[in-house]
Amino acid sequence: KSLYERIGGEPAVDAAVDVFYRKVLADDRINQFFETVDMDKQRAKQKAFLTFAFGGPAHYSGKDMRAAHAHLVAKGLDDSHFDAVMENLGATLKELGVPDDLITEAAAIAESTRNDVLGR
Ligand code: HEM
Repeated sequence: KSLYERIGGEPAVDAAVDVFYRKVLADDRINQFFETVDMDKQRAKQKAFLTFAFGGPAHYSGKDMRAAHAHLVAKGLDDSHFDAVMENLGATLKELGVPDDLITEAAAIAESTRNDVLGR
């Protein structure tokens, strides 16, 4: 079973979206990157983010991680921002009662995208 399934599939991701989104927008270390982002599309993006972090279905049709973040790298996106997102991801899953071993797995998947997200 994939981590996505073990974590609870789509309902679990939906539940996590609100919590994660609230945390990210409240975090002054990173919320500037989301300022100009379309609010309606944002939900879908957060969902895509979390599905990705959970190793979810391969039918993700968005941009690859390098392309999706290139314009943010141009605005200064760096490791400190990536670390902040990782922190918010962990805190979100903890708050939702996801077991620590599954949080560790999700963090490893998210971590594996670091160099692509940061364009190097
Ligand atoms: C967009 C995932 C790290 C800020 C996206 C999208 C995904 C995603 C799936 C949607 C792409 C699309 O539009 O097709 C991830 C993953 C990350 C990560 C898995 C690593 C754990 C970050 C970080 C930041 C960030 C560190 C900034 C602090 C954004 C923003 C958008 C976005 C602002 C929307 C861009 C726009 O529409 O202009 N991300 N992301 N992401 N990400 Fe990330």
